[in-house]
Amino acid sequence: MDKKWWKNAVVYQIYPRSFQDSNGDGVGDIQGIIQRLDYLEQLGINVIWLSPVYESPNDDNGYDISDYYAIMDEFGTMEDMDRLIVEAKKRSIHLVMDLVVNHTSDEHAWFIEAKKSKQNPYREYYIWRDPRDGGVPNGLGSVFSGSAWEYDEETDQYFMHLFSKRQPDLNWENKQMRYEIYDMMNFWLEKGIGGFRLDVIELVGKLPDREITAHGPQLHEYLQEMNRETFGKYDVMTVGETNSATPQQAKLFSGAERNELSMVFQFEHMVLDQQPGKSKWDLRPLSVVELKQVLSTWQMELQNEGWNSLFWNNHDQPRIVSRWGNDQKYRVESAKMFAILLHMMKGTPYIYQGEEIGMTNIVLTDISQADDVETKNMYQERLAEGYSEEAILAAINTKGRDNARTPMQWDDSKEAGFTTGHPWLPVNPNYTTINVEKALTDQDSIFYCYQKLIQLRKVNPIMVYGNYQLLAEEDASLFAYTRTFQGETWLIVANFSEQVNEVQFTEVATDLEPIISNSTTHKRYDLQQLRLAPYETFVVKLDSSLYVK
Ligand code: NOJ
Repeated sequence: MDKKWWKNAVVYQIYPRSFQDSNGDGVGDIQGIIQRLDYLEQLGINVIWLSPVYESPNDDNGYDISDYYAIMDEFGTMEDMDRLIVEAKKRSIHLVMDLVVNHTSDEHAWFIEAKKSKQNPYREYYIWRDPRDGGVPNGLGSVFSGSAWEYDEETDQYFMHLFSKRQPDLNWENKQMRYEIYDMMNFWLEKGIGGFRLDVIELVGKLPDREITAHGPQLHEYLQEMNRETFGKYDVMTVGETNSATPQQAKLFSGAERNELSMVFQFEHMVLDQQPGKSKWDLRPLSVVELKQVLSTWQMELQNEGWNSLFWNNHDQPRIVSRWGNDQKYRVESAKMFAILLHMMKGTPYIYQGEEIGMTNIVLTDISQADDVETKNMYQERLAEGYSEEAILAAINTKGRDNARTPMQWDDSKEAGFTTGHPWLPVNPNYTTINVEKALTDQDSIFYCYQKLIQLRKVNPIMVYGNYQLLAEEDASLFAYTRTFQGETWLIVANFSEQVNEVQFTEVATDLEPIISNSTTHKRYDLQQLRLAPYETFVVKLDSSLYVK
């Protein structure tokens, strides 16, 4: 058993633009985060993953960095950043910086130089190719719609961008570029940060000419080099964003002996409500059986090798309670179900800002209300392809990234206490009923369920190290599993549906007091006679192993 501090950790993701504005300009900032550290301490988390705060023209809200050594004006100064690191540390919170090294902004000094001429020393920091038959070099597409190649008239070549055309891809085959990145990472590590979240890191070994983007042949070599030259010398955590990783690949990234990353984000569960082989906008209903299969495969595969990161939400995903729960009648119940199901699994749990109070999706009625570059590009593309405006908006309201990016709802005052000015993205109108202040005054709130889960994790090694076993695989709505550690077994049971569910376990265990539950009526559980309310979820300790009848 390989013990590491980040296995015990619970991470809270902050999307700084939307967290807390301290100066009334309508944009969240670092001082705002500092003001809210006591709240995070109260929640109990011990790591913050901070979405990018570097200088950026914000074509993709900070994921297009124009200077890795400077802080975006709207967010504050380097002094603010240094203070945030210190203030977080005082509260035993590690600060994990989001780092985007697959690409930069087109306003980064390297790219400005690179564009000047084919002979420019920075030319090779990016990926340039000659036109083919008077057009794009090949068929590679951008994640944000259209071709991955953008023509530069001045030098008569195309540069590659797997995201927006204002996010040119760095050329990782260039050693000098790689070492400039490592120097920059060391600059941040020396400030005492707690690690890095590495944006789309699976793409850095790409072979553009063979149209290979993810998991290229040199990817792991680069990561081992990065580890050796930078964070490997520090006791920090690293998490790689790997959109297409399989469990086998995840073991390569996170295997203890491999000296690459602490863990990766896998997204197999995040695509279960899209049509196979199509894009995220092509929807289909979730199958709970499939969700159980996918998550359990990851649990089993990384049981003894590698490490899982666990999440339902981030700044790119819709709100989980709206997505797969019920954000109206059973908002509280379903939000707590998601919390308990996830935090009881093996891996490091991540909470996305607002998840702990059950924030929901928003409804856009017109594309002019959208901010996100991915959403806006898709809208234009689909309109041109003949989709109806109504269908496109329905997809945006279900899957669009702005859903997660509306301002944090702190209280029921104007603009939800996020800003005294005009927020950069509208506040969800439900802030008068869903907000932090309200959650803190209600002992049965979603907030306290998260707080309890985090507390439980601190004192129960079974939550961190226990082995996972799925039960009732084929059941269409029951999500049940056990965790076992040093002779102790916990049973986790969730009714993942809006119907009452009657369940019987063969275990003769009656009158069990739950370790945690989302029920306000059941104070005890009888495993031979369970009548579970919609989304009812509980955890009990068992004496022996069991199975569902
Ligand atoms: C993944 C990030 O999470 C997303 O927000 C961003 O748009 C892309 N990478 C490109 O950096």
